[in-house]
Amino acid sequence: MRMEISIAPLTTLPAWQALETHYSKVRELHLRKLFADDAKRGERMTAEAVGIYFDYSKHRITDETLRLLLQLAEESTLRARIDAMFRGEKINVTEKRAVLHVALRAPQGQSIMAEGKDVVPQVRAVLARMAGFSNRVRSGEWKGHTGKRIRNVINIGIGGSDLGPVMAYEALRFYSQRDLTFRFVSNVDGTDFAEATRDLDPEETLFIISSKTFTTLETMTNAHTARDWLLQTLKHPAAVARHFVTVSTNAMEVTKFGIDTANMFEFWDWVGGRYSMDSAIGLSTMIAIGPDHFRAMLNGFHQMDEHFRTAPFERNLPVLMGLIGLWNNNFFGAQTVAVLPYEQYLKRFPAYLQQLTMESNGKHVTLAGTEVDYQTGPIYWGEPGTNGQHSFYQLIHQGTKLIPCDFIGFLRPLNPLGRHHDLLFANMLAQAEALAFGKTSQEVQAEGTPTWLAPHRTFEGNRPSSTFLLERLTPEALGKLIALYEHSVFTQGAIWGIDSFDQWGVELGKALAARIIPELEAGAEGQLTHDGSTNTLIKRYGRAKEPSHGR
Ligand code: F6P
Repeated sequence: MRMEISIAPLTTLPAWQALETHYSKVRELHLRKLFADDAKRGERMTAEAVGIYFDYSKHRITDETLRLLLQLAEESTLRARIDAMFRGEKINVTEKRAVLHVALRAPQGQSIMAEGKDVVPQVRAVLARMAGFSNRVRSGEWKGHTGKRIRNVINIGIGGSDLGPVMAYEALRFYSQRDLTFRFVSNVDGTDFAEATRDLDPEETLFIISSKTFTTLETMTNAHTARDWLLQTLKHPAAVARHFVTVSTNAMEVTKFGIDTANMFEFWDWVGGRYSMDSAIGLSTMIAIGPDHFRAMLNGFHQMDEHFRTAPFERNLPVLMGLIGLWNNNFFGAQTVAVLPYEQYLKRFPAYLQQLTMESNGKHVTLAGTEVDYQTGPIYWGEPGTNGQHSFYQLIHQGTKLIPCDFIGFLRPLNPLGRHHDLLFANMLAQAEALAFGKTSQEVQAEGTPTWLAPHRTFEGNRPSSTFLLERLTPEALGKLIALYEHSVFTQGAIWGIDSFDQWGVELGKALAARIIPELEAGAEGQLTHDGSTNTLIKRYGRAKEPSHGR
């Protein structure tokens, strides 16, 4: 079923135009005044659902801003697109695919249809196979070719087949089986593979080759290198079956590679790469934390899915988050969003979100193929607090750019150590407070700061931020948090009228690399037909391969 596209241009919608007028009236409003005028703002401008408390009071919004943003959501195709996604319609129009990552976490008994077929039973069947396999590896029952138990698990994949697994492994390390070592190889740079394997015994190592397409250059190159590395020690090709499993949608390519499809964990073309960490792509996660914790994570995702699907927009966390992000992006012109988890285990969360947000909403044409006349996806970046405070926060506080921040905090630590958690949490609150309220030059001077120094010590404030609070970093909480971002990305993409589920922008570079590779390998002696710069660089590389080079 093809989704009908009938969207009035975004900037012609009445709510958009009202927002433009409204923006010109409120753009200079300071958070100091907004809070001073409304003693309840910090309690009122919050929302809570499925265990996530969202404080959006430190954004440069009024009740009227919110009303107009919600009106914009109603005037856009958001509601229709949410329903279409959950109905299994092909909302990824350029690839003619359904978008059903929500089916990956649907509980038994729920049915979600794609192409007239309920996909939930097949999802559950793969989860059951994953659980069986994970338990065998975790217990030591799954042995390597020489009878040794598996001690090391290496996931080979890139993009969505890497970032989710790495992030989830790091995020849930507290729950992981500590006598297993997990490594992740993604880069085609040989260093990645060499360093990941240098201290490992092939007899105790299991490779998970994760690739939706099973054609990705980086992953296939690393997979071949892994096979060579293994066979150098184990000699016999039969060893591959005990040391390699795959996660893919492409059984044909898996067979061609020489891996038995009995050792393949399947997923489907209606799961986008960056939405796949809770599919079989999460096999390394499941081996690390065990099937029960993995199921708890899926349950967290599902709770947020249901909230997104059913809650009215004014209480819908992903919708509110998406709308406020859009306000900062499209009206205040904020180019980036800083993601600042105050939780060390979430150190790879910003990197994970970069693919989720930017591959999804980095688009310049609408679903109808017309050029947008407004900004789409912002740049996401970040680091865990408090490290970022001693690095880039200076620019957020006193630089010339407006950078909305997402602060993510947990009320209870996983590793309670003396005062650490109080200090961590206090720092998060302090940063959001400083960003919002700053320090006026009068305040600075009243402290006795010399006049010449006062401008340097003044904080303008009025820097917007969201604060998300969760109880504790559990697998369930992680699922909720990821789904929150997934659906806020969806919300923004739907309002911008773009396809958040394709990624044509990565194709040209891949095609050009395929052309350049043989030229580099040939030593670049033939006719080169690139631009002058690329030709020169290729020749320079070729010269470095000549025996006389560097002598
Ligand atoms: O190049 C981008 C991309 O297609 C991502 O969308 C995807 O997550 C990644 O490559 C890896 O693809 P695959 O899982 O097919 O190897």
